[in-house]
Amino acid sequence: MNRKKNLKVSIVMGSQSDFKTMKLSIKILKKLKVPFETKIISAHRTPKRMYKFALEAEKNNIGVIIAGAGGSAHLPGMIAAITQIPVLGVPIESKKLKGLDSLLSIVQMPKGIPVGTLAIGEDGAINAAILASSIIANSNPLIKAKLESWRISQAKSVKKKPK
Ligand code: RP5
Repeated sequence: MNRKKNLKVSIVMGSQSDFKTMKLSIKILKKLKVPFETKIISAHRTPKRMYKFALEAEKNNIGVIIAGAGGSAHLPGMIAAITQIPVLGVPIESKKLKGLDSLLSIVQMPKGIPVGTLAIGEDGAINAAILASSIIANSNPLIKAKLESWRISQAKSVKKKPK
């Protein structure tokens, strides 16, 4: 099988409680017809699951990983440390610090192991899916076309004058 032709996006999250945010990534990927899978993987509660997932990601034809995590959000960075597949981190809005803790944990990766960091919460989940689709589109002309028409309809939806 040609790996480049069948790449999928893997959406992982640290907890079931992250799903209300990460389901927005799913919505976008479905719209753009991008193949994907979803998993709950916690860096601190299921470290063995995380390690196995990241180690086998390339073999499993994953082209981009979207990792949503909250609080001391080490999941995206830990996955990025194990695999060379691009990792996009979505900081989940936490109860106590409104997601600033998640954002800083994900964005402040020390040099050498990058994580592409998106906005806190729903906007981040949506943009992570669009960005993941753009990465997959580099080797998939059908997804490239879907992204193009999606942008055109987004532009059309913006009124020229306020009412
Ligand atoms: C993180 O802890 C998860 O990503 C989640 O955002 C946060 C809280 O998890 P729960 O206590 O809701 O399971 O690992």
